[in-house]
Amino acid sequence: MKPIDEARSSSAAIPTRRTRPIIAIDGPAGAGKSTLAAHLARRFGLLNLETGAMYRALALKAIENDLSFDEEAPLLEIAAYTRIRLEPQVGGNRVLLDESDVSNRVREADVTAAASRVSVHPKLRAWMVEQQRALGRNGGVVMEGRDIGTAVFPDAEVKIFLDAAPEVRGDRRYRQVAIPRDPNDPRSAPGQPTPEQAAAQKKILEELKERDERDRNRAESPLRPASDAVIVDSTSLSLEQVLARAEEIVRDHLTAGELN
Ligand code: DC
Repeated sequence: MKPIDEARSSSAAIPTRRTRPIIAIDGPAGAGKSTLAAHLARRFGLLNLETGAMYRALALKAIENDLSFDEEAPLLEIAAYTRIRLEPQVGGNRVLLDESDVSNRVREADVTAAASRVSVHPKLRAWMVEQQRALGRNGGVVMEGRDIGTAVFPDAEVKIFLDAAPEVRGDRRYRQVAIPRDPNDPRSAPGQPTPEQAAAQKKILEELKERDERDRNRAESPLRPASDAVIVDSTSLSLEQVLARAEEIVRDHLTAGELN
C-alpha cells in the first residue's frame, strides 16, 4: 500500500474529468446560438448560460455611468464594483446587474452597440473569462458566446460553431423586430416591404456586419472556430435541421454516462 501522502499527491496529479459536460456554442451575431443553446439545455438537462449578456450588462453599466466604451481602465475600475448574474430560465437568461433585473434593457440597440465595443478590451475579457469559468467549472452547462471553445473552456467536451451568411442572419434578426405589414398602406404590397421596413432591414444588416467585423478582428480572442469545433453552417438549413444536427453532434461526442 502507498503511504497516504504519496497516494494523495499522485491522485491530485491526475486531472479529474468533469462528471457533467460543457457544451460550447460559438458563432457570430444572429446565427441562432441562443435558440440552439436553449434547445440543447432542455434536451439534455443542462443549464444554459448566455455569456453575451454579461458583456451587455457591463456595457449598460458603462452607459449609466457615462463612460467611454473605448477606454479600458475606467471600464475595468467599474467592473471591480459590479455584480453580474445570469439566471438560466426556460426561454433564455434572466440578467441581473447589481441585483436589478436588466434582462430586457440589455437587448436594446444602444446596449447592443456598446457591448460590441466594450468587448474588445483584453483585460476586461480576462475578467469576464474568469467569471465564466467559475460559472461552468462543475460542468452541466451549455455556454454560448464568441470565445467559449477557444478561450473560456478550450477543454469543453462538445464545441459547435454556428455560422450563417450575413444576409440570412440580418434577415432573421429583422424578423424578430419586424414592423408588421399595414394592410391599409398602399405601399405595402404582400411580400413587399414598405420603404420604412426596407430601411430598417438595411440598417440591421449594416450594424450586424459592423459587429461581425469587430468580433472577428479584435486582437484578443477574435471570433473564430476552435480547431476541434464542429462547424454548422445554417445558411440553408431550417431551424429543425440545425437542432437535429446539433443533437447528433452532442451524441457523437458524449458518452451515455455524460448524457444522463
Ligand atoms: O451574443 P450577444 O449578441 O449577446 O453578445 C453581445 C456582445 O458581446 C457581442 O458584440 C460580442 C460580445 N461577446 C464576446 O465578445 N464574447 C462572448 N463570449 C460573448 C459575447
